Amino acid sequence: PRVLRVALLGCGTVGAQVARTMLTQREDLAAKSGCELDLVGVAVHDAGRPRPGIPDELLTDDPEALVADGGADIVIELIGGIDPPRRLVLSAIDRGASVVTANKALLAKHGEEIYAAAEREGVDIYYEAAVAGAIPIVRPLRESLVGDQILTIMGIVNGTTNYILDKMTTEHQDFATALATAQRLGFAEADPTADIEGFDAASKAAILASLAYHSTVRIDDVYREGITGVTSEDIEAAESMGCVIRLLAIARLDEAGRIEVRVHPATVAREHPLAMVQGANNAIFVEAANAGRLMFMGPGAGGSPTASAVTGDLVTVARNRLRGVENPAHSVYQGLPVAPMSET
Ligand code: HSE
Repeated sequence: PRVLRVALLGCGTVGAQVARTMLTQREDLAAKSGCELDLVGVAVHDAGRPRPGIPDELLTDDPEALVADGGADIVIELIGGIDPPRRLVLSAIDRGASVVTANKALLAKHGEEIYAAAEREGVDIYYEAAVAGAIPIVRPLRESLVGDQILTIMGIVNGTTNYILDKMTTEHQDFATALATAQRLGFAEADPTADIEGFDAASKAAILASLAYHSTVRIDDVYREGITGVTSEDIEAAESMGCVIRLLAIARLDEAGRIEVRVHPATVAREHPLAMVQGANNAIFVEAANAGRLMFMGPGAGGSPTASAVTGDLVTVARNRLRGVENPAHSVYQGLPVAPMSET
């Protein structure tokens, strides 16, 4: 049977879960992929610290060497942040490996460069886990809805802030208590500033807008406001109007046909489907010219849900690799302009 070598970079909440899934569900993943998926190494920060369920001999603290010398067919990048992931992903692509990543910050900043490298080398880059954790939204935009015209895309794409706003609303918790719980449950980024100041949601909004409008939208194009300014009084005022406050990411075309993308707290009527999204769940509402209104909802953060999306990508890129086909990561054939932020 064919074997594909898989290198895993990063072993945090998501990475550890992906490694354990690969090791314990070997046969199932082999049956689904059509080949053995051999985990050849796991790059970690501290290779001396044992990881339950992951053999010590797989651990290395040298991700560069793992990518350069590991002979990996598929590299899974779950380190997060811009560097070293940018270098590692480009190096993996240059070596002809397919890449799976959950790294929204990287794609929202350097997506253009990475997608171009993947196209040039004829390898896949898959990133379902980069937006809204377990919810399939990247593939639906990239594949299922590609024949349609997206009118609006609007969503809750950060679990931590939704958890905080939900607890502040339903249990009258204060901001700090709710944030601490979100961190303990493994939803928050290593540095929660990215969550509460809206950077994480802005990265995801840029990725969604790029996919929806087949154009290049970067995080710097996104108007951004986080939730640190939302007070209990704001929440009560919204409540008295039959509304809740949610951090929304919104992308649409303006009257001049330019892409407009923003992230900010918004009051949402209690009957609206986005108002019903509880805890760390995410939801994305898509309105397309022919498909009509679609709602995608589910766990948007956390180890197991995000690992589910990563593992799905792993099987998909393995299947593509076996058949020698590549699925273009990103198509900028529309190349629409982005509205200046001052007008957003
Ligand atoms: N910190 C992110 C969130 C994790 O809370 O949604 C998923 O990207």
